[in-house]
Amino acid sequence: MAEADSTEAKNFHSDVPMRSESFFLKGSNNLDWGMKNRLSQIFDSRSGRTVMLAFDHGYFMGPTSGLERVDLNIVPLTAYADTLMLTRGILRTSIPPTYRGGIVLRASGGPSILKELSAEEIAISIDDAVRLNAAAMAVQVFIGGEHETRSIHNMTRLVDLGNRHGIATLGVTAVGREMVRDAKYMRLASRICAELGASYVKTYYVDEDFETVTSSCPVPIVIAGGKKLPEREALELAHNAVQQGAAGVDMGRNIFQASHPAAMIQAVRGVVHENLKPKDAYDLFQTLQHEGERKAAAR
Ligand code: R5P
Repeated sequence: MAEADSTEAKNFHSDVPMRSESFFLKGSNNLDWGMKNRLSQIFDSRSGRTVMLAFDHGYFMGPTSGLERVDLNIVPLTAYADTLMLTRGILRTSIPPTYRGGIVLRASGGPSILKELSAEEIAISIDDAVRLNAAAMAVQVFIGGEHETRSIHNMTRLVDLGNRHGIATLGVTAVGREMVRDAKYMRLASRICAELGASYVKTYYVDEDFETVTSSCPVPIVIAGGKKLPEREALELAHNAVQQGAAGVDMGRNIFQASHPAAMIQAVRGVVHENLKPKDAYDLFQTLQHEGERKAAAR
């Protein structure tokens, strides 16, 4: 039988107050442990930022350029991403379950590019999100769109379901063709998402006053990359966004449609996590691209 512990052999450090640290992520300090842990799977606690690799486009666009074969084109890039943003169909069919980063599941859908996009509905059950070990669920919000209220209701339903299970909600501000992409609109859309419970918000970078979008939103903002730009310009976009308060990028086409996607995502990481200037990031991109080409030629 084990002897009873002797108090003399213990050290209770009674003179050292127990640590009580605040959580690194903006607006998230009062969340529960599970939600904070999941947000830490998305955001790197050292930089406070994230590189989300977005390839959920097929949920309304089908196999767009660069996403024809997720197993061949995207899986090799996942090693460089903090988080993947994708549909449950692609997660189950194409992503190895050994992937260790955060999973942000596309949770709304319905209409294709052939229809009115704002008519989305919730497209996943909370049970399946839990089963897939989602860190967050992403839902499109169409402020000013034809089905604005429905899309907001989708988000608030997911916030309630996610809060019950400690899964975060990403409010995705979708800018319809008729909307002006300016800071005033992005402030409106982002703030509405945050006020109604989104854990973080994805929006678009705008050239003027973007810092007012990030500063007036009480939760982290990540920016979408948008349509494919020349690599140097996409790195500038990411640089400007993080220097003006964005907590990272949710970037798709500017990575997977780049001339060398693996080089591009590493250069984006440099901008997001190491504050690389656009020129230095572009130099890194070119160096990695040439290395990749040399290795491919040697095979
Ligand atoms: C839209 O299809 C999705 O929400 C994408 O995840 C998002 O727009 C980011 O992708 P991209 O950088 O290509 O705009």
